[in-house]
Amino acid sequence: MPETRIVILDALTYAGNLTTLSEDLADPRVRFYPGKIQDATVVEGILKAEGVTHLVNFAAESHNDRAMMEAGSFIQTDVYGVYVLLEACRKFKLSRFLHVSTDEVYGSIDQGDFSESSPIEPNTPYSASKAGGELQIRAAIKAHGIPAVVTRGGNTYGPYHFPEKLIPFFITRLIDGKRVPVYGDGSQVREWIHCEDHAGGILHALLHGKDGETYNVGDRNERRNMEVVKILLEETGRDESFIKAIPDPRRGAHDKRYSMTTEKLNALGWSPQKPFESSLRETVAWYKERQDWWRPLVATDDYRSFVEAFYGPSLGEDL
Ligand SMILES: NC(=O)c1ccc[n+]([C@@H]2O[C@H](COP(=O)([O-])OP(=O)(O)OC[C@H]3O[C@@H](n4cnc5c(N)ncnc54)[C@H](O)[C@@H]3O)[C@@H](O)[C@H]2O)c1
Repeated sequence: MPETRIVILDALTYAGNLTTLSEDLADPRVRFYPGKIQDATVVEGILKAEGVTHLVNFAAESHNDRAMMEAGSFIQTDVYGVYVLLEACRKFKLSRFLHVSTDEVYGSIDQGDFSESSPIEPNTPYSASKAGGELQIRAAIKAHGIPAVVTRGGNTYGPYHFPEKLIPFFITRLIDGKRVPVYGDGSQVREWIHCEDHAGGILHALLHGKDGETYNVGDRNERRNMEVVKILLEETGRDESFIKAIPDPRRGAHDKRYSMTTEKLNALGWSPQKPFESSLRETVAWYKERQDWWRPLVATDDYRSFVEAFYGPSLGEDL
């Protein structure tokens, strides 16, 4: 869509990084504003000045382990921020609001799959905040007729991911010769989807989804955490002595398994394209190649103090 313009609002929190956008920002059709989605004046000012028609909300506090330590900022962004965006959509009569949510809102499932009509039963402070945002949307659809669509994505991997989520956290530590903290026996099952497939699913739902509907965006690609870790060890040339089994700091909140059907979005003509194992190996190669991108991120005081506060007692000298 060559005539489409993109306007980005991002608070540039510890997880936000303008370097990631440098190529995109060189395109005259892309404009960037720093700011928070909770700031109604900023949000409404941008919608008005730029004549926005479609709003896609990726912004979130998104790291489960950080939410175990402090969940207030999650509620500010993931619940109140969504409310502000919805109010702005209402005021400016936008054509579509797409909200990027997560399969974690369903909670854990031992067998079978969640579908879009499964109940929402979040178990972690992060997933509860994302579920809170979704409930604001449900109410805005019912009460105000907001033309909203929700996507629930699976665990996402790929380049440019802040090195705190399992895959980039582990890759960067293994490159540096540090042990990786695996919760319990690593038997938790996650469905992994490459960021390009996740983004493609979101775009497909934006363009072809129906108002008021929710769409799962997944790759039907279940892996135990330990299977993923073993591929990362292989690709970084490390052996199993680099695994440090630690007690699960999320206690009863750590979901055992995520799994969801994607037929609803598949029926609209979308399907993921990236094979898991080779794409994961490519991701490791990207992190080896782009140390200029992630080294400054892991050198900040915020990053060091998070790793120390959350994993320090278990990782000891490997911090
Ligand atoms: N990473 C995953 O595995 C995954 C899976 C499913 C869904 N999601 C969802 O996808 C979205 C993006 O995930 P991610 O892993 O890239 O997250 P991330 O934490 O790496 O990045 C979040 C981005 O949002 C920005 N941001 C945070 N608070 C903000 C605020 N108040 N106002 C404006 N901008 C703000 C940050 O600066 C950053 O650029 C999130 O909504 C997340 O819930 C992620």
